[in-house]
Amino acid sequence: MRVSILVFASVALAARPFLNEPDTGIDEALGSTPDGTLPDLDSLVGLPDFEWAARRGMNTSAYTYYRNGAAGEWSYRNNLEVFQRFRLRPRVMVDITKIESTLPTTILGHNFSAPFFISPCARGGYAHPDGELNLVKGAGAGNILYMPALYASKSIEDIYMARVSNASTPQVLFQQVYLTENDTETQQLFARIEKAGSKAIIMTVDSAADGNRHRARRYGVGSADSSYSYLTWDLYHKLSNMTKLPIIPKGIQTLDDARLAVENGVKAFMISNHGGRQLDTTPSSLEVALEIYNEDPEIFKQVEVYADGGVRYGADVLKLLALGVKAVGVGRPFMFSNVYGVDGVKRVIEMLKHEVAIDAANLGVGDLKKIGPEYVNWKSVNGWFS
Ligand SMILES: Cc1cc2nc3c(=O)[nH]c(=O)nc-3n(C[C@H](O)[C@H](O)[C@H](O)COP(=O)(O)O)c2cc1C
Repeated sequence: MRVSILVFASVALAARPFLNEPDTGIDEALGSTPDGTLPDLDSLVGLPDFEWAARRGMNTSAYTYYRNGAAGEWSYRNNLEVFQRFRLRPRVMVDITKIESTLPTTILGHNFSAPFFISPCARGGYAHPDGELNLVKGAGAGNILYMPALYASKSIEDIYMARVSNASTPQVLFQQVYLTENDTETQQLFARIEKAGSKAIIMTVDSAADGNRHRARRYGVGSADSSYSYLTWDLYHKLSNMTKLPIIPKGIQTLDDARLAVENGVKAFMISNHGGRQLDTTPSSLEVALEIYNEDPEIFKQVEVYADGGVRYGADVLKLLALGVKAVGVGRPFMFSNVYGVDGVKRVIEMLKHEVAIDAANLGVGDLKKIGPEYVNWKSVNGWFS
């Protein structure tokens, strides 16, 4: 009896409260910023700082739409917390001086300056009147991939018109879609997307029904896609015959579906639980990637695998890349950064590039392409299971 009480006591003492914005001194440094105003962009030092700023600069319902997770928000929290449950295994006495030159990567054969991208998020206009135009311009300036959402505040045409050309090559965007059962509508949408100049279609498959969003419901800012959707592999094949663009399923959450994606001929798929916004207690991308790595690591070589959810630091990116993920998506920090307009978006890109480079260097990775699972201790610490 005494032992079990001691065990409980030590678990209780060891448990840390969830911190939506970890304490890195921002309140002391910027806490005197009047409500409704934004601190200087230069005073922000990391991705979580943008949520701190946006929480003050946006009205509560708009902030809530971005911040929201499903139900009790356990998946939302787990997405953020999972990264610190796995400790790094830094190697020393390694030449890391060229690390920055190894950040560029390809995504479906297109060249980008870093292995991270802007995930598709609806309603960019909640943070800034120019909405998605800032995201496309920021991504273009930083030469990273942007995936505009179908339910954007700006039209597909306006978003693609805002692309930045790099050495006469138009900026590459992948267009996210939600689809109805109406083939004519789908055909028209695909034609519009092709004409606008998208290089791929991101088909969201993790939201077959409305998300159970308690926080959002208080302000009437629920899911942009609330209907029941017919989403099957048969449909995937039918859709693939309607467009010349590759269709990439977004929202794979199990090894079983990863295998089915490969069997059904995808060129790439994205692991995602929609930022914890759809179905509560779904696993984080890191847990799913680990399951795939443990059971069927060849999948990472057969197709390109992308992943998003809860990525806030350079080391988070590294852990996903270590398992074989080709590129990592970031959602909310970019949406929050848009309160500063295009400069905010550019700043997030710079910050994350810098963090990926210095974290890789301190991990003893001299070439980002050579990072592997041996740089992480995959035995979970202080998790639910170890
Ligand atoms: C405000 C907001 C809107 C979103 N809208 C969409 C959407 O329209 N389509 C989609 O596939 N995913 C959508 N997502 C999910 C993101 O694509 C991405 O999976 C998620 O934000 C990643 O988690 P993170 O925000 O913790 O980085 C949205 C996420 C947010 C925060």
